[in-house]
Amino acid sequence: PIPVWLDCDPGHDDAMAIILAAYDPRLQLLGISTLVGKALSRHQAISKKEQQQKLLPLAQVTRNALDVLSIAGVVGVDVVQGQARPLLRPSPLLCPEIHGESGLDGQRRGRTTNAQRPPDAHAARVLLIRSPEGGPVLPHGGGQALPGKAPVVMAERIGAFLAENPRAAPVRLICTGALTNAALLLMLYPELHSSLEIVIMGGALGVGNTGPVMEFNIQTDPEAAKVVFEAGLPLTMVPIEVTHTALVTPEVLGRLLTSRPGISKFKVLIEQLLTFFAGTYREVFKFTDPPLHDPCAVAYVADPSIFEVEEMRVDIETASPLSAGQTVCDVWHQTGRPKNCRVARSMDVNAFWGIMIDALDFADIA
Ligand code: BDR
Ligand code: CA
Repeated sequence: PIPVWLDCDPGHDDAMAIILAAYDPRLQLLGISTLVGKALSRHQAISKKEQQQKLLPLAQVTRNALDVLSIAGVVGVDVVQGQARPLLRPSPLLCPEIHGESGLDGQRRGRTTNAQRPPDAHAARVLLIRSPEGGPVLPHGGGQALPGKAPVVMAERIGAFLAENPRAAPVRLICTGALTNAALLLMLYPELHSSLEIVIMGGALGVGNTGPVMEFNIQTDPEAAKVVFEAGLPLTMVPIEVTHTALVTPEVLGRLLTSRPGISKFKVLIEQLLTFFAGTYREVFKFTDPPLHDPCAVAYVADPSIFEVEEMRVDIETASPLSAGQTVCDVWHQTGRPKNCRVARSMDVNAFWGIMIDALDFADIA
């Protein structure tokens, strides 16, 4: 199998990325690191007082990662907590409008009708802990994050794996959040560069989702993205133009939930996550169906043949107040600058859902 490390900020679609990375038979998930990023937006600063009063967003995303592993029955995959804020930019900002207060809210804004819902999942909803008003859908499954800081533990774990399995290199670092942990890893451990390939969900060739030309993960920490894009490692970016084709239509949701008969907490979790996500995407972006961004990057590693990619120069805008966080993609090679990134341009969507469903089938154990 292909060794992968997943750096994420769960997040509804990150949760699905975790499940795919853990259960796709072509992948060997070495570990998971978390960072604040899902919770970052331009809207709302978190005050010191708020930070003291409630679970910090970083602790929350780490909790979410642990709980997803627990309910999905994943054993032997450790989680380590990463950065609480971007490299250079000030304090974290919150964006509950997309993922809810917990980062993994369920139910409240979902508008899936009973008719759209497979009957077994509907009947089993009682299995999950949630309030009728919404809120976290995950029962806390226990589990502790590893002590230590993500970039250090990532280097140790990846280094130890490669020492035992030298022919398994390169390890694929899949990033489905901001690139802060990845940038620190590359800055602190240059000796790992030759053993890593990076695949990110993020960026946009054109229109952004949290700014006119900015995608959320890159806009969250543009300086970290600049470090990663200029590091000279093999790098693939799966931008929103592609992830916006991975739409969870009612038909797709039905396929995800009924691929194998039977009731499970796990299926109910997926139904709730995707239904909530559908509701927020409808409200905020006027999407009829929500795009499942993050698993696309994992699917790229599992089966790159379902993607069309193009190599090009991609630079990160960090200075402009209008567009800091833009991935400036030189599609026509007008700058003449060396190409540094494979950019996914399209994906076989049907094959993608096949990959996702196979992983869910494999994981359907609860
Ligand atoms: C990215 O932003 C987050 O909300 C998602 O998890 C995804 O990683 C999409 O722009
Ligand atoms: Ca994410």
